[in-house]
Amino acid sequence: MAEAKPMPVITCIDDLKSLHKRRAPKMFFDYCESGSWSEQTFRDNVSDFSLIRLRQRIAVDMTGRSTAGEMIGHRVTMPVALAPVGFTGMQCADGEIKAARAAEKFGVPYTLSTMSICSIEDVAEHVTKPFWFQIYTLNDDDFNRNIINRARAAGCSALVITVDLQMLGQRHKDLKNGLSAPPKPTMANIINLGTKWRWGLGMLGTKRRFFGNIVGHVEGVTDPSSLTAWTAEKFDHALNWQKIERLMEMWGGRVVLKGVLDPADAAQAASIGADAIVVSNHGGRQLDGALSSIRMLPRIVDEVGGKTEIWMDGGIRSGQDVLKAIALGAKGVMIGRSYVYGLGAMGEAGVTKALELLHKELETSMALCGDIDIASLGRQTVLLPRDFLDAYV
Ligand code: GLV
Repeated sequence: MAEAKPMPVITCIDDLKSLHKRRAPKMFFDYCESGSWSEQTFRDNVSDFSLIRLRQRIAVDMTGRSTAGEMIGHRVTMPVALAPVGFTGMQCADGEIKAARAAEKFGVPYTLSTMSICSIEDVAEHVTKPFWFQIYTLNDDDFNRNIINRARAAGCSALVITVDLQMLGQRHKDLKNGLSAPPKPTMANIINLGTKWRWGLGMLGTKRRFFGNIVGHVEGVTDPSSLTAWTAEKFDHALNWQKIERLMEMWGGRVVLKGVLDPADAAQAASIGADAIVVSNHGGRQLDGALSSIRMLPRIVDEVGGKTEIWMDGGIRSGQDVLKAIALGAKGVMIGRSYVYGLGAMGEAGVTKALELLHKELETSMALCGDIDIASLGRQTVLLPRDFLDAYV
């Protein structure tokens, strides 16, 4: 049986990924590990980081190192926030609660997805500090108003509006696997779940197995367990800048716009008063063929640097990647897969492990670049291929 294998020594995010693959049901590991269509953008997000090299400096006093900073006014141990990820509570039982607790203890922000399994209220009950809430807007004003009110009542301290998913990019594996929450009792699922006893025991011990924020709050979806059905039938295809501004007014607090990949959109986002934008292509899960986030980051920094906080996500699998993003002008980053691997591998302890790994890699590599304070990273820290910024015009 796969589970009888000895526990590997975890030294990097990739080790957590291998364990996640071993322990979580195939459909949920695949959901995490998918990009849309040919997965070109999904792969580029990672491989473009490896084109960037670091400038080694020597004989610098490495005592007093600090990775601490701020993201929209929140003090953080390192500028790495947990991104909103759908189905997190299917990677292991009560996954959103476990991830939020690990983030809180580590001192980094956690963002709860609209498409989470644990509800806003479930998570709020299990943490002591405010978390952030990510909204997907549905074509149902009452739902939008209501979920914003629920996030406010739960004490959420920022609204992260996803602006790159009015329609879902197709992920082949999800269709082939019949992705749903909870999984349907098909023969393929029964055979696969039979090898995942740790996951199954966790799920037997929780009531949270449906999309907790929406099942019971929205009518008229053909299959309430399916992300494809929700997005096709209920997501607001007509979302536009005016509607984004209306949502921002409805919320009335700090707002992050996630999914900006073009300098012109970044300028618009800054002009309507977004507190931060996330340079993102949704982890390569939406427009296949879009450029990687790290390649677009410097162009967006040149366009709106100083007008709004600029973060990025997509492709971060190490602390060295965090360093590169900060050096290229991001004030912070969001991680999705890197913490979900940890969660699927080892629950809350796995998320903590992922954060510890990133932190150690960031802090050590920063010091080896001659920077003891994360605030002093800059373009001088990295070496880029000559055409990195304008290979695509
Ligand atoms: C969004 O929920 C996604 O699956 O990317």
